[in-house]
Amino acid sequence: MNRIRIAIFASGTGSNALNLIRFFENHPRIEVALLYSNKADAPIVASARALGIEVEVSDNVQAADAPFLQTLCTRYAIDWIVLAGYLRLIPSAFIRSFDRRMINLHPSLLPKYGGKGMYGHHVHEAVLAAGETHTGITIHFVNEHFDKGEIIAQFHTPVAESASLKDVEAAIRYLEHSYLPTVVERTILR
Ligand code: GRF
Repeated sequence: MNRIRIAIFASGTGSNALNLIRFFENHPRIEVALLYSNKADAPIVASARALGIEVEVSDNVQAADAPFLQTLCTRYAIDWIVLAGYLRLIPSAFIRSFDRRMINLHPSLLPKYGGKGMYGHHVHEAVLAAGETHTGITIHFVNEHFDKGEIIAQFHTPVAESASLKDVEAAIRYLEHSYLPTVVERTILR
């Protein structure tokens, strides 16, 4: 039986992308068929290539072009997309063509700390500034409204009064690495 083919979109370090690649390496039903990045010098590009994953890179003009992304995904026969630290806005027509087959990872408990400008350390800084006692991660379907697609799963972590930005980052990363692969697996196979 052919395996279900995932494309991972990533723009940076790609620790979550790498974690997904390793998790699905010998999976019987799912494979990572493509790593796509809008940044040629993103560390994930070299790391994924070193692991023997097919990699495609484009500029930001192409990243905003739905037909370009559609053609790319057709070429690799992609069934599902996972956005793991992908920092470009995805064109609406492309999102529609992967309706309920595109998953995003967000480092807060949406709807809190979502939307424009809320990515990476900006999220954690806002959480600390607001004196939140908890934060967490959200794994959700992508729709045309930024950070507002249907929530698939959320995982919480406490924020101590003395917590630093580094502490929050580490706690969030731990949740992401622990849960994203199995949630993606379960969502695709259900
Ligand atoms: C993660 O915190 C993810 O939630 C966010 O960007 C970060 C990416 O980290 N969207 P990495 O590139 O996977 O290491």
